[in-house]
Amino acid sequence: MLENRSLGSAIYRLVLKGAVAATARPGQFVHVQVGTATDPLLRRPFSIAGIDRPKGEVTIYYRVTGRGTALLTRVRAGETLSVIGPVGKGFTVPAAGELLLVAGGIGLFPLLALLAAVDRLAVRVKVLWGGENRRFLEDVGRATLFQMGVDYAVATVDGSMGHPGLVTDLLQAALAPETAAGQQAESAPSGGQAGALVKSPEGRTAITVAACGPKGMLQAVAACCGRAGVPVEVSLEERMACGIGACLGCACLVRTAEGTPVRRRVCKDGPVFDGREVVWDETG
Ligand SMILES: Cc1cc2nc3c(=O)[nH]c(=O)nc-3n(C[C@H](O)[C@H](O)[C@H](O)COP(=O)(O)OP(=O)(O)OC[C@H]3O[C@@H](n4cnc5c(N)ncnc54)[C@H](O)[C@@H]3O)c2cc1C
Ligand code: FES
Repeated sequence: MLENRSLGSAIYRLVLKGAVAATARPGQFVHVQVGTATDPLLRRPFSIAGIDRPKGEVTIYYRVTGRGTALLTRVRAGETLSVIGPVGKGFTVPAAGELLLVAGGIGLFPLLALLAAVDRLAVRVKVLWGGENRRFLEDVGRATLFQMGVDYAVATVDGSMGHPGLVTDLLQAALAPETAAGQQAESAPSGGQAGALVKSPEGRTAITVAACGPKGMLQAVAACCGRAGVPVEVSLEERMACGIGACLGCACLVRTAEGTPVRRRVCKDGPVFDGREVVWDETG
């Protein structure tokens, strides 16, 4: 481990050197033993946010939420962590058109790897990022997104930065710029570079959306994209045990092209899925 640094808002940036970087793809994750002891036994999954192949390094960002991530904060540079990865199936990296990255809170992290992998000369990228408040977005963004020279707009639940409301408001505006919501979002202070979102003169067929965040947000994103006829990939989260497809502990429900509901493992078949295939309400 090369670096394990607090960014504020209980978010840490951790840089690892090892074999993972050679094959890691955006949207994949690493399954990390959070300390140098065997307790806790279960590893914790973290999305790969940065990949530096020449240096053999990957970066992850994690939020301290419980015992495992609290233990992880104690690991020091120079110590060795046991890491399984890269694991799972990641995002499609578009080669042309327009890409909207829709992030809820720490859902930004896997999208950073996708952002870095896209050829921004060939693909027009816009990041839509929602969070609780300005403090959180600045703590996390200062060291990442805000320095990447990317077009972005933000939304905060408490209205302290950007659009007051949900990131899905921004998405709706981006996909339907002629609506009132669209005008509102475009005139809202974004905290990033200004500019129209997806008003492509060629039409909208080339837009794709990639999203990561809380399940309710992803469901809303998928519904919004469904209405607009825009393809969407979503990165799902489930509690994980083995992390390699053996225990079925992370199963989610998806619908095949024929409409048949089937169980898939988030760790091995995902975590990235076609948003149109995910069954969001498994009780329905
Ligand atoms: C594929 C994948 C990628 C992830 N990427 C990241 C990342 O890049 N950065 C990051 O900070 N976190 C990420 N997570 C979530 C992270 O794995 C959990 O926050 C972590 O395992 C919590 O461990 P803990 O021992 O600190 O907390 P625990 O004591 O196990 O749990 C503390 C709290 O966190 C919740 N929690 C634990 N695991 C999850 C989970 N998988 N999904 C939702 N809530 C959970 C619990 O319900 C509980 O409320 C990812 C999860 C998955 C499945
Ligand atoms: S965590 Fe064991 S199959 Fe996914």
